[in-house]
Amino acid sequence: MKTALTTLGVSILLFASCAGQKQQPESNFIQDNIDNAVAQHTLQTDIIEKSGKILNPRTVNKDGSIHYIPIDDWCSGFFPGSMWLTYELTGDQKWEKLAEKYTEDLDSVKHLKWHHDVGFMIGCSYLNGYRLAGKTAYKDVIVEAARSLSTRFRPGAGVIQSWDADRGWQAERGWKCPVIIDNMMNLELLFEATRLSGDSTFYDIAVKHADTTLANHFRADNSCYHVVDYDPETGEVRSKQTAQGYADESSWARGQAWALYGYTTCYRYTHDKKYLDHAEKVYNFIFNNKNLPADLVPYWDYDAPNIPNEPRDVSSAACTASALYEMSTYLPGKNYKETADKIMESLASPAYRAEVGTNGNFILMHSVGSIPHGAEIDVPLNYADYYFLEALMRKRDLEEK
Ligand code: GLY
Repeated sequence: MKTALTTLGVSILLFASCAGQKQQPESNFIQDNIDNAVAQHTLQTDIIEKSGKILNPRTVNKDGSIHYIPIDDWCSGFFPGSMWLTYELTGDQKWEKLAEKYTEDLDSVKHLKWHHDVGFMIGCSYLNGYRLAGKTAYKDVIVEAARSLSTRFRPGAGVIQSWDADRGWQAERGWKCPVIIDNMMNLELLFEATRLSGDSTFYDIAVKHADTTLANHFRADNSCYHVVDYDPETGEVRSKQTAQGYADESSWARGQAWALYGYTTCYRYTHDKKYLDHAEKVYNFIFNNKNLPADLVPYWDYDAPNIPNEPRDVSSAACTASALYEMSTYLPGKNYKETADKIMESLASPAYRAEVGTNGNFILMHSVGSIPHGAEIDVPLNYADYYFLEALMRKRDLEEK
């Protein structure tokens, strides 16, 4: 779809050869990664299409088989989202058709009210269809999903409640109104719903949630807690803990990535500088951390006890890279794009990018779902692939300018 980066590629080639460097020319980097994604997605979607069903791959099981998920799983939007991104990156209508089919399978998610992740689910699927392929008919689903998410807003505390306190494993924690940093990723849906509907209620909820989270989720060093539990009536903070990190006082890698991305997104819609300033503070925490490896792919928790013998979390790195490309557009004089480029070089290297036909046909290896739950340790995850492709699209767009 997009024009070839010939001119840019030639100048980078010249520069690289003059400087005696070995790095891949940028145009080749983008095209090589598009080709790789297309190859993996072709294998993945061939399996799905041959099944005669609509299957939604999330990761691989311990026996190597592909783990498919139901539509109310928090990860159900990422695979359809990757299809939209692949369509955007290639212009090939094959991907548009598949994206449409897998997205529209999620229609009833717009009514989901029992967890907060409807923002991820409808944002990655329907919102990308609206944005990248002009599917204006998706507007109603987006606004309805925002309405469902808004039912979880607790005005007394000024937050959207992430999880139900009496459901599943959460019921054992004694929480009343748990809010996880991940929730920052759901705000984009609310901002977009206001833009599409003209109803400012969604925007106001998003801003209130972002502000309350800014006040309560962060430590003096700008790292964040995973879970803050509130009294939903008074807003009193009951506890600050973790669910997926190493310890309550540790810094879970994906949580830091969600925070960086979430506050960058808040700046996009509000132009309130405090959000961008905060994203920079989170950046400084991550990139000055003594436990961040040289290849910029973090361990699953910055305070994991056995570093360097701990699993990496590629999903955090991919989400961070995507956020940094956006940050670089607001703060062009800083080195955010260069940092994102370094992350992308790492992710696209054989250390993290799978050979075609391996890794359950996912693009990236070595992510972590939840070590405390013994789930998805050192596996591919559909959201690592999603944010990698989003970062690739943002990188391409920046370099085409
Ligand atoms: N939102 C759940 C996770 O990041 O694992």
